[in-house]
Amino acid sequence: MKIVRTAVAVRTAVRAARARGERIGFVPTMGFLHEGHLSLARRARGENGLVVASIFVNPLQFGPAEDFDGYPQAPRRDHALLIREGVDLCYEPRADAVYAEDFSTLIVVNDLDEPLCGRFRSGHFIGVATVVAKLLHAVEPDRLYLGAKDWQQSRVITRMIRDLELPVALVVCPTVREPDGLAMSSRNTYLTAQERAWAPNIHRALSAIAAEVRAGRLTRPGEVATAVRRCLRGGLGRVQYAEILDAESLRPVDLLRGRLVLATACFVGKARLIDNVVFTVPSRAARGTRKAGAPGALSKAGTTGGSVKVGAKRAPRQADSARSTTWRPR
Ligand code: PAJ
Repeated sequence: MKIVRTAVAVRTAVRAARARGERIGFVPTMGFLHEGHLSLARRARGENGLVVASIFVNPLQFGPAEDFDGYPQAPRRDHALLIREGVDLCYEPRADAVYAEDFSTLIVVNDLDEPLCGRFRSGHFIGVATVVAKLLHAVEPDRLYLGAKDWQQSRVITRMIRDLELPVALVVCPTVREPDGLAMSSRNTYLTAQERAWAPNIHRALSAIAAEVRAGRLTRPGEVATAVRRCLRGGLGRVQYAEILDAESLRPVDLLRGRLVLATACFVGKARLIDNVVFTVPSRAARGTRKAGAPGALSKAGTTGGSVKVGAKRAPRQADSARSTTWRPR
């Protein structure tokens, strides 16, 4: 694997591959790689002649009170992992090469940057869109690989690609999780053992609430947000937001039908963890065919010591009431 540090060097290598008739796949990362990143590299490897990854902790997407300085890094380990996945080229620019001292051109993707993380990370998606545009400009890939774990980011980049007519196809890959359901994240390394043991509750809560929505037992967006907070209350996490939105436009919905994203950000110790589930509500359930006596199993159950009754344990399973179960945030 060749490591290059300038846009000119990466462009030269990529153009040579393209001249040989190869397709170019690109996986941008901030390093400290885990199986989530590697799943993108693997997918890119399977679909392209040349695979380029980038490792760049982008200062522009971090707020002043965020973890830019302490962001975990392990370049040697990252290189070994990328080599194992068959990545051909790793682009690792220096920050001062990406951003001149008087750098002043920004990409703003309006609307999509307003809900969810956008409400709490002012300027974050400007930083993301700007750096991804610059990376795309350097790499000129045919395909760009992003993870569904950062759903809002994938929507912002989708819109940017469309609006700017960038000649690249976006491939959004599924979230890779630990066996206990916790979404893999470089920031999981901030968790203490106790926090790590609690953190899978985030995914459990989202999955369980999504199952309730699919079953038509939760029908109002406000109820959904409250239910997520209630599920996670009393544990080690502090929910920053929980929202259910149209999965594509990220606009609020009146009716819980169609393709939806249920997303949350939760502080667990010093880690800010985000996760989401994207799912479709069949119109039958959305028409409000609530089961008699189940005007929201959640509201009925309430919470006792941080526990909540929900209709199913995991989202991909249908919310079959015969499977109803109770789980407790640990
Ligand atoms: P980073 O957090 O390093 O993530 C790089 C890519 O890996 C993103 O597309 C992200 O969605 C994906 N990813 C992270 N965790 C994942 C998981 N558990 N399963 C699947 N994919 C996962 O996202 C960024 O960096 C930056 O914002 C970046 C796009 C590189 C721009 O700076």
